[in-house]
Amino acid sequence: MMREGWLFLLALCVCHLAREVGGEVSVNMVGDSEVYMGDSAEIRCQYNFLQNASMVMVQWFVRDHRGSRVRISYSDLTMQKVDENTNYTDRISISGDSGGENLTIVDVKLSDEREFFCQVDGLAAGSNEGKFHLRVFDPPEPPVIEAVNYGVSVTSALPSKVATCEATKGFPQPNITWYRNHKPLSLKHGQVNVITLLSKDSTGLYTVQSELQYKVTREDKDAHFSCEVSYYVPWAVRTVESKTVNISVHYPTNEIKMWKELPVGLVKEGDTVQIRCHGDGNPPPTITFKREQHTELEAYNNLLVLKDVTRRDSGMYHCHSLDLDSVSGDKDVMGNLQLTVHYLDPAVVVPKDSEVMLKGENLTATCNALSSLETSTVWLKNGVEIKNGNVLHLQDATFDTAGHYNCEVTVPTLPGLRTSGSVHIIVQGAPQLRDVKREVDVIEKVGKWVNLTCDVRGYPRPIVTWSGPSISGWREVVRKETEDFVQSIVTLKITRDTDAVAVCNATNKLGAETKIYTIRSIPIVTPAAQNTADNSGVIIVVIIISILLLAILGSVLYFLYKKGKLPCGRSGKQEIINPFSNKEKTNKDDIVVEMKADKTEESVLLKGVNGDKKPPTDQ
Ligand SMILES: *[C@@H]1O[C@H](CO)[C@@H](O)[C@H](O)[C@H]1NC(C)=O
Ligand SMILES: *[C@@H]1O[C@H](CO)[C@@H](O)[C@H](O)[C@H]1NC(C)=O
Ligand SMILES: *[C@@H]1O[C@H](CO)[C@@H](O)[C@H](O)[C@H]1NC(C)=O
Ligand SMILES: *[C@@H]1O[C@H](CO)[C@@H](O)[C@H](O)[C@H]1NC(C)=O
Repeated sequence: MMREGWLFLLALCVCHLAREVGGEVSVNMVGDSEVYMGDSAEIRCQYNFLQNASMVMVQWFVRDHRGSRVRISYSDLTMQKVDENTNYTDRISISGDSGGENLTIVDVKLSDEREFFCQVDGLAAGSNEGKFHLRVFDPPEPPVIEAVNYGVSVTSALPSKVATCEATKGFPQPNITWYRNHKPLSLKHGQVNVITLLSKDSTGLYTVQSELQYKVTREDKDAHFSCEVSYYVPWAVRTVESKTVNISVHYPTNEIKMWKELPVGLVKEGDTVQIRCHGDGNPPPTITFKREQHTELEAYNNLLVLKDVTRRDSGMYHCHSLDLDSVSGDKDVMGNLQLTVHYLDPAVVVPKDSEVMLKGENLTATCNALSSLETSTVWLKNGVEIKNGNVLHLQDATFDTAGHYNCEVTVPTLPGLRTSGSVHIIVQGAPQLRDVKREVDVIEKVGKWVNLTCDVRGYPRPIVTWSGPSISGWREVVRKETEDFVQSIVTLKITRDTDAVAVCNATNKLGAETKIYTIRSIPIVTPAAQNTADNSGVIIVVIIISILLLAILGSVLYFLYKKGKLPCGRSGKQEIINPFSNKEKTNKDDIVVEMKADKTEESVLLKGVNGDKKPPTDQ
């Protein structure tokens, strides 16, 4: 210690001398002047003597917080040592060569940001010192931004707090800049204000808190705010931007929109109407619905629902906002909507229900339905459109004029609206047969069935009766009756002697009409006569076989007769009563013939036996 103290005094002295002689030794310091905290820094102290120095002493000093110098190392020709009990004792090392000495600091601390001095003393050769400022850097954490979690009103007079941004643990002090939609915000009185709070923790690191005060406008509801921290690093400036935040801006309602959501298009009676209101304020204002300034209507979620509307619901509707945020509370913001409910009344048809016309008469029918819109009317008969328009002229009535007439009223601009009416037209008249021919000849082969049809129109409905021959087996098979029409069909079988006249008689209170059917039978020709030459051979064979069979049958019958086993009566014949005939059938032989008529083989033979007989007539 003693020796060092002496040397120190000596050094001071030499120093003094060196300064006096001046320029005999030059000291130059180079090295890592800017380093990250925790890294190592190396500082070189280079010296150059004009004349050879017999011995060189190099001492390193730092300035302590009081401003006085503290030596941290010493070296001369014989020794190199780090001073005990300084802040650097454990963190520095020195190494020398002929032209200088290196000081290495490991695990650089913030406190190392200070001046380092290197004193070189060559005694008689002179002395000098160099100074080196070491800078230390520690980047801050990325910035943390936070927007206010409440609505910021555009109506406040001064800039309001919008967001805060924090950059922690940086050295040297970082700066914070604010951005709106990625454009920097500069301070502006009454518009943009930034409050910065700087703090330093025990380790010497800085934390910057910045609060942005901003006068928001309605447009800021879509704005994005961000902050950027800028800080120094060795030989550079770095910036890191925060994420963006948006704020909820509160502004009063300037305008209320009112529109009909349902139904789309025109409104008709019976519809459910939905009217919505929307105020452009934020938060959305509470809205009340009114009709013609009268009582408040009940609505939910700014939606007014009118169920099953009628024409009485037509009128002006209003929306009012109850805007609490409004600065100009007296300003009445209102929305209006004119609602028109269209209607179509039931169709009124003249004449009503049903109308009786005389044949040949004229009639004009009208169909009208009251509507708020233009209507279109068509008349239909049996589903077929017969007239476009609401007036229907029926001229020179015939039975074909009679029937159901429907009119359909629609509203072209509102397809949901439709109504209809009808009128029933009756045409009064004497019976009228469908066929113009009053006399009909019916010629048919014996054994066939024929239908006699009698179709009559007339009103009141005619009474249709049949009178005619006492032909057995005829009956009515069809009878259709409507209000002014009767169809009657009778069926009868043609027999050998059905040559008769049948009469269809239709009457009502206005007259009568008859139709006469003259029925003639065509005699059946023998099959042989019909056949051509090539068939004759077959027929001859058939006849021969038949004769043989008859001979056998004859023999058997004769045998049985002789034995007395065959009853010889007329138990097979039947009597048929004709319901249409007034006279009783008396000729029983005819009935027997009729019974056998379908059996061709036998009837052919029997015909030959009986010959042609005149059928009885009713005349
Ligand atoms: C921070 O702001 C100060 C004052 O405006 C300025 O001198 C300094 O260079 C800034 N630092 C950075 C890293 O931009
Ligand atoms: C921020 O913006 C998003 C998307 O544009 C939106 O959903 C959200 O409501 C906004 N937040 C605020 C507070 O306005
Ligand atoms: C007669 O009319 C009845 C009932 O319509 C029908 O079944 C029958 O086939 C008709 N007969 C003839 C020969 O047309
Ligand atoms: C038709 O019937 C009506 C009433 O039943 C009768 O008065 C009239 O004489 C009949 N006409 C003929 C041609 O049979």
